[in-house]
Amino acid sequence: MESPPLLKISHLKKYFEIERTQILKAVDDINLSISSGETLGIVGESGCGKSTLGRTIMGLYQKTEGSIAFNGVDIDKMNTSERFQMHRRMQMIFQDPYASLNPRSTVLELIAEPMDVHKTCKNNKERRARVERLLEEVGLNRGFLNRYPHEFSGGQRQRIGIARALALDPDFIIADEPISALDVSVQAQVVDLLKRLQKEKGLTMMFIAHDLSMVKYISSRIGVMYLGHLVELTTSRNLYEKPLHPYTQALLSAIPIPDPDIEEKRERIILKGELPSPINPPTGCVFRTRCPFVMAICAKERPNFVEVEDGHFAACHLHSDKPGLARPLAKAPSHEPG
Ligand SMILES: Nc1ncnc2c1ncn2[C@@H]1O[C@H](COP(=O)(O)OP(=O)(O)OP(=O)(O)O)[C@@H](O)[C@H]1O
Ligand SMILES: [Mg+2]
Repeated sequence: MESPPLLKISHLKKYFEIERTQILKAVDDINLSISSGETLGIVGESGCGKSTLGRTIMGLYQKTEGSIAFNGVDIDKMNTSERFQMHRRMQMIFQDPYASLNPRSTVLELIAEPMDVHKTCKNNKERRARVERLLEEVGLNRGFLNRYPHEFSGGQRQRIGIARALALDPDFIIADEPISALDVSVQAQVVDLLKRLQKEKGLTMMFIAHDLSMVKYISSRIGVMYLGHLVELTTSRNLYEKPLHPYTQALLSAIPIPDPDIEEKRERIILKGELPSPINPPTGCVFRTRCPFVMAICAKERPNFVEVEDGHFAACHLHSDKPGLARPLAKAPSHEPG
């Protein structure tokens, strides 16, 4: 029998109540699964719900609706001890290495904290040795044990955050924009480190980023989010070579191409209008107010998230499961180079 995906989320929603009358739909009906050993990239503009998705999966936020299954077991059906064990196997690397490390703790305390909570070391000697080994694994000096976070650069701090996430030997890591707060010069180093660790340890990873340039390099599949929704999901290669959703096409057209001749000639898709508020999202398709291909049906019906081709999912009436209804009103500019 085929083994279940390591993580499967179905119809996951996370709504925040803003005052008593307003609901902010940060994550709205997301379906996806991640197989053991794969890296799934999640991309989308600031505020589209990436961190909320990650935090809800981690259990840092209580979900509003939907289900989350880890290794085939629904988390709602787990008892306290099973849930505690699951949390040991699931760790998060946070977006901001400056805010996520307690400034009053030493590197030893920071990295050892998850081990202390789960009581995984027999004594102080073992604890210290384990932290030293983790420091080496993430490319830091063993001698850093008694230093404080403020003594380190952003890249080094993120390495400390990574060592901390690895402390319990997890199966699954959610890396929430682990490089976006770092200098461009160290971003690739941290991505390389994550890629190496992923391979060596057989980790399953969800790698969150706000643009598509670095995600391709680390992810086997990529999901694109817009205003709380997953609008497209496929292999990295498919996403770059034949993106189906107009939003994905626009995101791709924003990535600079290193060849100046192509770069000069290619057309960009500039999205019109502002990102709508998740408190008052557009009816029907949430992307329709900015979509160059908008059609009459888009305001009326929310497109289903359907498998358009083998393993390639999109939520768009252009690729709808009701073919008779999907007719473009206007042709949008091509995003192809040249
Ligand atoms: N704790 C919270 N309470 C209320 N609203 C929240 C909370 N956390 C996030 N939001 C709102 O939910 C939406 C999604 O936020 P989220 O932080 O998940 O986006 P993001 O995609 O991670 O953005 P960024 O790329 O800037 O990190 C935003 O409108 C945000 O203001
Ligand atoms: Mg975020």
